[in-house]
Amino acid sequence: MKALIASGGRGTRLRPITHTQNKHLIPIANKPILYYAIEAAVDAGIQEVAIVHNADSREVPDYVGNGSKWGIRIEYIPQETPGGLAQVVSLAEGFVRNDKFVFYLGDNMVVGGIRRFVEEFQNSGMNCFLTLARVKDPERFGVPEIRDGKIIGVEEKPKDPKSQFAVAGIYLYDKSIFEACRKITPGKRGELEISDAHQYLIDKKYSVGYTEITGWWKDTGKPSDLLEANRLVLDNIPPRIDGDVDRGSDIAGRVVIESGARIINSKVRGPVIIGKDCVVEDSYIGPFTSIGDRTVVKDSEVEYSIVLRECKILSVGIRIEGSILGNDVEVVEANGKPRVHRFMIGDQSRVEVA
Ligand code: G1P
Repeated sequence: MKALIASGGRGTRLRPITHTQNKHLIPIANKPILYYAIEAAVDAGIQEVAIVHNADSREVPDYVGNGSKWGIRIEYIPQETPGGLAQVVSLAEGFVRNDKFVFYLGDNMVVGGIRRFVEEFQNSGMNCFLTLARVKDPERFGVPEIRDGKIIGVEEKPKDPKSQFAVAGIYLYDKSIFEACRKITPGKRGELEISDAHQYLIDKKYSVGYTEITGWWKDTGKPSDLLEANRLVLDNIPPRIDGDVDRGSDIAGRVVIESGARIINSKVRGPVIIGKDCVVEDSYIGPFTSIGDRTVVKDSEVEYSIVLRECKILSVGIRIEGSILGNDVEVVEANGKPRVHRFMIGDQSRVEVA
């Protein structure tokens, strides 16, 4: 069993963060989203992983490395132009050869890992095994039509969804998927849709099974998805305090404070993670907040937010909530009179002021 992980695409809905960072490297609970996919594969006993990445950037290979961090082998497959997920699969034919494999979209997160799917697929003799998640907005996804416990069709982003399920971005295949990806033609988006490859397998009477993901699953395409995924991961994080907490501070709930971080005269209400060498002083950090390494928060309040590394949040008079701050961002009190908001904000940023 091998794993193929997709890390391409432009992450346009996550701009401006994705102007300077691949969306798969955005941290959830201070760990890149992509690492959750790699660790899910490792946990399922998979030793050989290939990651498809944008050919014009070495960011993902340089960051993730050759797999030695996890004791596995990771190789990289460049994708010259985005041509759809079925194209991504085709690019991996040389890597997969005759093995079975899991195809994992690197921006998908699933609680509880994928071991159970891998085991069920390996023992089943199926050609293709889809994981389904019940969602409120199936029209955003690939949607299966199910009759008498069998998938009889899959449609990509249908106007009129035939079920309440999304096909999640964790697929298990044998080599018949390569035939399907070769035979299909581009869909409405001009891309080779993975849903069309699934439809091909169904039409050609290959065996296509499915299972329902009963825990949570998220496709982290939008800012609100990132915050929600962050919330869910933090909710399960084992608490650990390696940094310094002074006597004037009060820590409650699931809280991780990494080494070198200092909490001074502050309240931290978990679930929260505070990265290495951060300083939190005279401040409140509220539930479902991740603070990246070397960030400084003074005389401010932050809740339900993702703050990346090396930010400065200083004397902000109103609580920061539901926010995502990129690396090296400063939110500070404006000095002097008149009382003003003063902005220095990059392209495609969004600021809400009270
Ligand atoms: C892709 C697939 C879709 C699937 C979704 C899961 O959508 O095309 O079938 O349901 O991933 O995350 P996209 O992210 O390209 O909109």
